[in-house]
Amino acid sequence: MARLVIYGGNALHGEVTISGAKNSALPIIVAAALATEGESVLDNIPHDSDVGTICLILRSLGVKAWFDQEGKLHVNGQTLNKYQAPYDLVRKMRASFYCAGLLLARLGQAEVPLPGGCAIGSRPVDFHIRGFSQMGAEIIIEHGFMKAQCKELNGTNFYINRSSVGTTMNLMIAATLAKGTTVLESAAKEPEIVDLAIFLNGMGAKVRGAGTDVIRIDGVETLHGVEHTIIPDRIEAGTFMFASAITGGDITVKNVVIEHLRSPLIKIEESGCIVEKGTTEVRVSAPKRLQPIDLETSPYPGFPTDLQQPLVAAMCLAGGASVIRENIFDRFRYVDELRRMGADIKVERETAIIRGVSQLTGAPVEVTDLRAGAALVIAGLAAQGRTEIYGLDIIDRGYENFEEKFRRLGADIVREETKAATDIFGKIQGINV
Ligand code: UD1
Repeated sequence: MARLVIYGGNALHGEVTISGAKNSALPIIVAAALATEGESVLDNIPHDSDVGTICLILRSLGVKAWFDQEGKLHVNGQTLNKYQAPYDLVRKMRASFYCAGLLLARLGQAEVPLPGGCAIGSRPVDFHIRGFSQMGAEIIIEHGFMKAQCKELNGTNFYINRSSVGTTMNLMIAATLAKGTTVLESAAKEPEIVDLAIFLNGMGAKVRGAGTDVIRIDGVETLHGVEHTIIPDRIEAGTFMFASAITGGDITVKNVVIEHLRSPLIKIEESGCIVEKGTTEVRVSAPKRLQPIDLETSPYPGFPTDLQQPLVAAMCLAGGASVIRENIFDRFRYVDELRRMGADIKVERETAIIRGVSQLTGAPVEVTDLRAGAALVIAGLAAQGRTEIYGLDIIDRGYENFEEKFRRLGADIVREETKAATDIFGKIQGINV
């Protein structure tokens, strides 16, 4: 078992280079296996464990996926020949449900485990399933699996509830090889959707309107491999911006698309930070004390739910009270951990009221979900004394070289191996009770 040990209080300074976007990489890796000619070569893929998991799932389906010496991922879907996705891998990550769109499009048959509940509340896939069904798939839910089959998928007009990102992507993947035109209404507009559309079109698909709320996909007969570079991770970029804010630092965040960061940058400026925008980088210098912020999370271009937790961590040290409303997921469980560090946070249903305190104090804390992990790390970096963070496998799902990047900015942070529980039981054995 590993933990991060942080001695907080250092203002972070310097430059950090942002990795490729995990939420773009995952659907694109799956979509790459739609091709029956050639292979795709994907650059700027983040080397995190979710990417590793999706590659293993594809391999279990017969797809070839491997990294070359430059860190580029090669995906060859010509050998895809199995339609049952393995539960032990799929259960680790909700995004593996994208395999359902791939398998229906390529093989007309899919057996994919339903993702279970997770630490940010119930996350059903009913919109995805309704979309597949409307495209002509016969679907049964049995023994925890979605079992779907069709002779072929047909184009359809489908209205996507809540502008779901995952549903938009899964149906885009499925519709590329469907017969006729699929129109997705109220589609998600996130930059990762646009990245997926650019990739699919590079493979020979006909996707129009990505980035707006109506996406049209004209089905084609076949797709081929292509080279593609994944967009930078706007959530990782935002996390480092809030790390600068909370530690009183001055960080230049490199390899970003400024346009993707519009709403977080507005809020960072509102908190009193000075923001200097370059072409592909942004510098965030913190004031002596942050100003409180009020906001609510919403689909892009609104403030992303994935940055709600780092923002709340920063507001713990603001000079006043902030009111943050979470509209997308049940995402406030981690505030108990921030409270253990001295934060003053009250949660009522979807709203958190954070009264800024003059200091946080280091404490042992447990990561509850991926973005909570990022929030606890930056809180630890600002807190007085020693913070220990447990549950690192969750952080490793979505951040590449996380602590190394912070160390280069002047943070006192190390990863330590701790004794596993089995060692403790080993010691207890033989004790006379
Ligand atoms: C994706 C992102 C996640 C981000 C979220 C919102 C990936 C791998 N993950 O998650 O980091 O926080 O978008 O920007 O890209 N819903 C249903 N039924 C469904 C699908 C969704 O009820 O079938 C609900 C969800 O519970 C949630 C809302 O719709 O309340 C939006 O979820 P969605 O946009 O689908 O999120 P994900 O794609 O899971």
